Amino acid sequence: MEDLLWYKNAVFYEIYVRAFADGNGDGKGDFAGLTSKLDYLVALGVDCLWIMPMYPSPLLDDGYDISDYTHIHPDYGSMQDFKTFLTAAHDRGLKVIVDLVLNHTSDQHPWFQAARRDAKSPYRDYYVWSDTDRKYSEARIIFVDIEKSNWSWDDAAGEYYWHRFYASQPDLNYDNPSVQEEMRNVVKFWLDLGIDGFRADAVPYLFEREGTNCENLPETHAYLKRLRHFIDIYYPGRILLCEANQWPEDVRPYFGEGDEFHMGFHFPIMPRIFMALRRGDRSPLVWITGRTPPIPESCQWCTFLRNHDELTLEMVTPEERQWMWQEYAPEPRMRLNLGIRRRLAPLLDNDRRKIELANSHLFTLPGSPVIYYGDEIGMGDNVWLRDRDGVRTPMQWEASPGAGFSSVDPGQFYLPLIDAKPYGPEKVNVVGQLSDEGSFLNTIRRMIAVHKQNAALGWGDFGWVEAGDPAVAAYCRGCGEGERILVVNNLSGKPIQMPLSGLGARRLVDLFDSTLEIETEKEPVLVLEPYAYRWLRLV
Ligand code: GLC
Repeated sequence: MEDLLWYKNAVFYEIYVRAFADGNGDGKGDFAGLTSKLDYLVALGVDCLWIMPMYPSPLLDDGYDISDYTHIHPDYGSMQDFKTFLTAAHDRGLKVIVDLVLNHTSDQHPWFQAARRDAKSPYRDYYVWSDTDRKYSEARIIFVDIEKSNWSWDDAAGEYYWHRFYASQPDLNYDNPSVQEEMRNVVKFWLDLGIDGFRADAVPYLFEREGTNCENLPETHAYLKRLRHFIDIYYPGRILLCEANQWPEDVRPYFGEGDEFHMGFHFPIMPRIFMALRRGDRSPLVWITGRTPPIPESCQWCTFLRNHDELTLEMVTPEERQWMWQEYAPEPRMRLNLGIRRRLAPLLDNDRRKIELANSHLFTLPGSPVIYYGDEIGMGDNVWLRDRDGVRTPMQWEASPGAGFSSVDPGQFYLPLIDAKPYGPEKVNVVGQLSDEGSFLNTIRRMIAVHKQNAALGWGDFGWVEAGDPAVAAYCRGCGEGERILVVNNLSGKPIQMPLSGLGARRLVDLFDSTLEIETEKEPVLVLEPYAYRWLRLV
């Protein structure tokens, strides 16, 4: 029987199709290229691919500005190429979810074009118009570096239109039942094609109400619940993953009683992994796990270290944000909006120990881990590129000048390859790391494998374990007495001896190497090298 709860202990992998592999030699990644790399992803061990928007789009927000919801961007190939990809992925046991942008369209979408030209068009009411730009003044601006208002004037319409993101992304009007139905039909279209679900983009902002901050409104939840109900009836086993960059108590309602989203990103825990690591102190993690409410049994968090956006610092205090900027984005170019536009390896000084330690948290804290393409080989970034392009550069497959990304001259790539030492393809690439048993890529492969073999890491409850030293983040993941895993992370650059007496008489078996055993009665302390981590089964 099909496992309807497959996502509870799955490992996700986020793919930007343009960046992954170019199959037709035009310098841009496409579905043919991605299909040719599926065996790599199978060997990596991930379970589900998350495909960033692949729809026709003027690409002013890299495809999050959709001008046609039911086709494939010509850069990425044809609908047939997409179907071939999907079948090939499914044949290999991989699930595929795609981005679903509900909140807004591109201003090039025919609906918006019709709406702005003609006040009597049925499409006029697909968007949110006003003769003043002062409505909903309590709604924050998200892209603060570029946008000064959530309203933009449209000459053709003679009115202002509402947008939570770029002005080229007008918000849809969810008070209009036709909009609700259109988007449900989009959902149906892709599910009928066989995809396994959606990463639902920017869901807190669907409705607007005066006197509120226009986020997480009851009307928004009601619509999303109806969407979920539709999926449950016709497409059981397909999932909705919620992108709500909110505090845990505000994300909690998106799970409903197990009748809204299956999954939700845990945004606030992400910066706290970086905070804990830099401070050598687990307190930020203790604080946020304590503030995270339980979720229904059928639901799951998604944890991540980095993604295609800036490392957002919205879910921290202003003081913490300043500190994070100072520590992790010392140069102004590294900052964007309320975040940091850098990749994982450069953020962590390209220090293998710290990068592994961050991943140790990713794979063992509650939730299903999401890996951002390229982070599994320690790719670098380029802060000189615009917007978030610096973390969206071509995947580095091999050491050749074109990095194996495309057959065309690298000068024609959609974005330049990373060339800054030591992150260029001659050093950082898939082929080199696959053939090196001790490479970072092979460590990630082992982490993925161990995660999948141990149901407790997906299903288990979570509890902190007293470790003596605040620099040690030690916690238990467990499913009752049956399977208990002790995870120990040394957040500091100093060696630490962690007493094991609190565990009683136990045998601890290393999850990476079962020949490594500790008898707590004989060895009452665990010696942790700087930035070391251990994943241990309690027997
Ligand atoms: C989400 C996406 C981001 C995009 C925004 C607007 O936050 O992750 O990349 O710019 O939505 O669609």
